[in-house]
Amino acid sequence: MVMVIRDVSREREIDRMKTNFISSVSHELRTPLTSIKAYTATILRDPDMPKKIRNQFLTIIDEESNRLAKLIEDLLEVSKIESGTAEMSKQNVYIGGVINQVLSALQPLADNKHIRIKYEQQDKFLALAGDKLKIQSVVTNLLNNAIKFTSEFGHVTVSVRRTEYELGISVSDTGVGIPTEALPRIFDRFYRVYRPGEQISGTGLGLAIVKKIVDMHGGRIEVESDEGQGSTFTVYLPLATEPAQTCTTQ
Ligand SMILES: Nc1ncnc2c1ncn2[C@@H]1O[C@H](COP(=O)(O)OP(=O)(O)OP(=O)(O)O)[C@@H](O)[C@H]1O
Ligand SMILES: [Mg+2]
Repeated sequence: MVMVIRDVSREREIDRMKTNFISSVSHELRTPLTSIKAYTATILRDPDMPKKIRNQFLTIIDEESNRLAKLIEDLLEVSKIESGTAEMSKQNVYIGGVINQVLSALQPLADNKHIRIKYEQQDKFLALAGDKLKIQSVVTNLLNNAIKFTSEFGHVTVSVRRTEYELGISVSDTGVGIPTEALPRIFDRFYRVYRPGEQISGTGLGLAIVKKIVDMHGGRIEVESDEGQGSTFTVYLPLATEPAQTCTTQ
């Protein structure tokens, strides 16, 4: 008689994660959809609705559709990366150019909250080896979080530091901070820190995407945070080895 004993705890864990993932996705998709359906039905039911109210409802429908579109885009990104089908080009990318582009795109968000963003560009020829669009997505997610989780009149600082083989890109803020017990989970898909009464929108996919992109590049990410004081995220990515002239600046 042969008895085979196999440890299936890993398979069980994967099954559990899949089930959790599907139920989180369904929940996240259902929330904006429910609101879109409800407001559309209300508008259709009342043809004499005052224009002002109709416009308010249409604005909500528009915002919720954007949320849905972003969620689907993020999900596709996560699934492409996880299935290994995400394409990654390897170019020499000027980090200063990427940061400046992201800063101009997000400046209006910061202006709305009177948040000052400080970025002292050092060597403008500092370049790293990677996929420009993906690195742009990393910087966008970190900066977007820094602005989102910092209250009015706060400060955000972006800095770049070079070590022998790596570039460290840091985004610091003077925002709400992250409780120590939540730190190990913030890179999980759909994880959001529970803060009672918080009205900040998001789906908890941003940092999961950041982590995956950083891993794909053979880099690492560190976070330091003090609740109520602020947070600093630092991403380390491999330095470009080719001469600066061959870098992609666009
Ligand atoms: N700079 C920060 N300051 C405070 N908390 C943060 C910061 N960055 C991330 N967090 C916490 O980590 C959680 C996960 O971040 P993540 O970017 O993945 O999700 P999100 O911003 O809520 O949604 P999404 O990025 O998908 O729109 C956030 O919900 C927030 O609670
Ligand atoms: Mg985010």
